[in-house]
Order: sequence, then C-alpha cells, then structure tokens
Amino acid sequence: MRETVVLAYSGGLDTSVCVKWLQEKYNAEVVTVTLDLGQQEDLAEVGRRARAIGAKNHHSIDARAEFVRDYVLPAVRANALYEGKYPLSTALGRPLIAKKLVEVAEEESASAVAHGCTGKGNDQVRIDVTVRAMNPSLKVIAPVREWNMTRDEEILYAQRKGIPIRPSKSIYSVDQNLWGRSVESGPLERPDQEPPQEAFEWTAPVEEAPDAPGYLEIEFEGGVPVGVDGRRMAPLKLIERVNRVAGSHAVGVIDHIEDRLVGIKSREVYECPAAVAIIEAHRDLEKLVLTRHELAFKAQAEREWAWLVYSGLWLEPLKAALDAFILETQARVSGTVRLKLYKGGVRVVGRSSPASIYDVGLSTYGRGSTFDQRSSVGFIDLWGLQSRVAAGRAPKGKEEGSEYGRKRAKAKEAE
Ligand code: ARG
Repeated sequence: MRETVVLAYSGGLDTSVCVKWLQEKYNAEVVTVTLDLGQQEDLAEVGRRARAIGAKNHHSIDARAEFVRDYVLPAVRANALYEGKYPLSTALGRPLIAKKLVEVAEEESASAVAHGCTGKGNDQVRIDVTVRAMNPSLKVIAPVREWNMTRDEEILYAQRKGIPIRPSKSIYSVDQNLWGRSVESGPLERPDQEPPQEAFEWTAPVEEAPDAPGYLEIEFEGGVPVGVDGRRMAPLKLIERVNRVAGSHAVGVIDHIEDRLVGIKSREVYECPAAVAIIEAHRDLEKLVLTRHELAFKAQAEREWAWLVYSGLWLEPLKAALDAFILETQARVSGTVRLKLYKGGVRVVGRSSPASIYDVGLSTYGRGSTFDQRSSVGFIDLWGLQSRVAAGRAPKGKEEGSEYGRKRAKAKEAE
C-alpha cells in the first residue's frame, strides 16, 4: 500500500509543486490541508486546486477562533514583539498549522507530514519542532529544502507535469493571517531602499491618510481586548475592525532588520495595524494597574516569551511557565485606553481602569495633596546611603596600607 503524506497546502507555486513531487519522489498519496487563519483568501478555490493537482483528499479548516484564543490573545497579554518590533504574526500561526497537520495525519493514518518551507527561514523550524514534539512517530518532509530548484525551474517543472499555476500577481513573498502580513523578497532585499508602496495592502500610504486624526477606544478585560468604541465584540471581529481603522491611518508598518534563527539577517517588512495598536494600548493599561516590580519583571518574561515563540519553541515547558506568570498578572488589566491615530502614528492619549493604582492625591502639584513631602527626607537619606559611603572611599591605589596611604599617615603624624 502507498503511504500517505499530509501536506500543508497554501495554493501557491511551492506547495502545488510539492503535491506532484511527493507523489513521484516518495511514491505517496498526498492529502492536503489548508487553514483559515484570517488570511482572506478563497479557500474553496485553494481546495479545488489541490484536488486538480491530484490530492487524494483535502481538508479545509477554519481555525480562526482557535488561532485568536490560544495564540493571538496570549501574545497580547505578553505584549509580544520580537526584537522589540515584530508582533510574531507569521510565527504564531506555525505551531497551529503543525498541530492541525498532526491531527489530520492521525485521522488519515498517514506516516508523514510535509510543508513548503525553505531551508533558510524560521518557519521550517517552527513546524518541524512542533510536529515532532506532538507525534514523534511522524516523519516531516520539507520538499523545498530537498529539491534545490530555483523559482524558474519550479515553473518549468509545473508546466511539464501539467500543474495549473496562477500567474503570480506579485514579485513579493507574502504570508498573512489576521494578526499581520509579512512581505519579503524582490526590492525589499535591499535594506537601504524604501519599500515600494505596492508592497503594502493593509495600510494606506501616509501621504493619503486622512488629515483629521482618528480615535479608537479599546476596552480590555483580564488583559484581552473585548470592545471598541463602546461596543463589545468577539476578539476576531475586534481585530478585523482595528486592522481596518488603524490601517486606514497608515498605522502598523514595520520595517526592520531581523535576526533569523538560522543566523541570517534579513530585511523584513510587515503590516500589522491591529497588533501594533492593541499591544500599544495593552502595555499602557498595564502601566496604570501593575506595580513597578511587576512591570520590570514582566518585561523580562515578555522578551523571553517572544524569543521562544519566534524560535519555534511553542511547546517548550518554559513558555508554559511564562504563560502562567503572565496570566497571573492579567486579572487586574481591565479598563479603557484611548488611542489617537494620525498619519502613520499611534499614541495613547487616555486610559482608565477600576484597578488603577494611579492616585492623583499622591501625584498632584495642585491643592489637596495627600503625600507628606517631609517623609522624603528620611527616604533619600537611606536611598543614597551606599552611594555616599562609596564616594567617601579613598580612590583606587590610595587606600590605607598602600604606598600613598603610608605617606599620608606619616604626614598626619608630623602635623
Ligand atoms: N520573518 C518572519 C518570521 O520569521 C516572517 C516570515 C514570513 N514567512 C513566509 N513564509 N513568507 O516570522
């Protein structure tokens, strides 16, 4: 009997060639899987293509709600930005794709799963590591890593094998889901050049953004967004809405030099309007309700969380431990944050919370202060204690017992 391989299928050139290549090279039956992660593509069409190329079966899975609940919202609680910039949109989708590949492989009694990731990126690591942790008996095949074809050779292969290929509308390599859009290749590989406007789809050009500022009022409960502008909505709807509104004000473009896991530095361009706006708001609300000690430690936990997720270690026990810590801090992160959006910029201009530990009586420079300024005198005395003692120490080389010290002691005696 021929073995079955379950392939993560996007409908693009790489994974379309993968279907035929797996059939030929591995003499396998190929079952394809496509996830809806909010990438706004015609998934019925993707399924038809898979079958047309010869997939034995195709699974189309709407994973949007699960993606938001189990992947995106934890990233919001963690204010997750890799290298301080990238909201991990692509990275968050990969462990879920891996999970669904394993589920379908078990359902289809397959012996292997496959994906179209290259050997140069992070995505191969994220999928391979997660699949192997979830089901070590499954083989993972990455045809693109094995076949060593250029894009033109792939097109030739497709033509020879009668694989219907869509004329690619774009020179860019794009990956998108509801948390963001990653754009690579073409002119973006020149880090000294401004990205051409045609690379963007979710954000208005700054020059064409409205002349009047826009506002978004985001309501949080327990560290996750639950409403916008006074209307409660499911997080999926909320993210779509914030993507639209913030994107229309040109908010959410990220252009940075990123360190890939395999050591390559790459110029990455993203459009993540909702992620940028929501994380900005969430982080600000935390400053209103968490103590300085919680904030300082959480910042370290956040950095580590983002690194683990970026580097493909979604199932690493340390990540679960960090999740538990982060969740513990979020019970009080409820309230409303007002954002001002203007020509590519987003700024928090107001925040409030029933759990606020901001006390205007303590901070006011006006009347009615409840802070006793006299108590600062004793506080400062102790706060600076070690600095004073250290400053009074003899300079290095001039301590007691040194050559200098002995001369000084003699001089004192002579006095
Ligand atoms: N550099 C980003 C990451 O590693 C984006 C990768 C985009 N992936 C893609 N297959 N086009 O998460």
